Amino acid sequence: MFSWFNKTDSDSPSDAAIQLDPTNIPGHVAIIMDGNGRWAQKRHLPRVAGHKQGMNTVKTITIAASRLGIKVLTLYAFSTENWKRPNDEVNYLMKLPVEFFDTFVPDLVKNNVQVRVMGYIDQLPEKTRGAVERAVADTKDCTGMVLNFALNYGSRAEITTAVQQISQEVEDGTLKPGDITEATIGQHLMTSGLGAYSDPDLLIRTSGEERISNFLLWQIAYSEFVFLGPHWPEFTPALLTEAVYQFQQRKRRFGGLKK
Ligand code: FPP
Repeated sequence: MFSWFNKTDSDSPSDAAIQLDPTNIPGHVAIIMDGNGRWAQKRHLPRVAGHKQGMNTVKTITIAASRLGIKVLTLYAFSTENWKRPNDEVNYLMKLPVEFFDTFVPDLVKNNVQVRVMGYIDQLPEKTRGAVERAVADTKDCTGMVLNFALNYGSRAEITTAVQQISQEVEDGTLKPGDITEATIGQHLMTSGLGAYSDPDLLIRTSGEERISNFLLWQIAYSEFVFLGPHWPEFTPALLTEAVYQFQQRKRRFGGLKK
């Protein structure tokens, strides 16, 4: 079931006590990086200061996740609904990937991390799209963890696009309605390129909110959820380890019975 804990919970072992099972590291971890704005407001800083600090957390957590042996780390960086925010904040969020990739790609390459992007990137400002596409190209030969950015991503939009594509194939006569399977739908989603890792094993949301916010609705059918109290700028490698520890305590049955 769901778990919400923070560093003071008595049933959460201290960092030093956590022994992860190296044979049960979640292959795909997805994170809803929530709480940047509240982190900033608590410090009487503008909201964008929280996003800036959040970007630094992305750097730290990417390296930590790769060292833990996670295969795919999907980060919800900007949703299709985030355009509703004030222009200044949207503009800042669009500039962040440029700064992030301009400064961090060498470290990504050094750590063998491959960047991918998931979302309607043709709707992004040209500079943002360019930075993302350069990072994808510059890291394409890296064979370690995939850092998968959800950028201008929304799950309902993704499913709608998939339905449109599948309907087109039916209209073209290349697909029969009766031949549409769950696999057909999966192949038309933006995670299809992740192959065996398309579905998150573990979904983390920071900042104490317990909702999904239009993130990977199809793909999280059997994900384990961990909700954490700290805001994203406060998230640390130790908290990532704690979330993985929580994951390792779960008994995943995928609707069947545990052997
Ligand atoms: C949610 O916090 C966060 C976002 C909408 C943006 C996430 C972006 C980053 C963490 C920056 C990193 C980006 C890149 C490309 C490296 P919120 O603003 O909704 O916080 P609140 O709920 O406290 O207002």
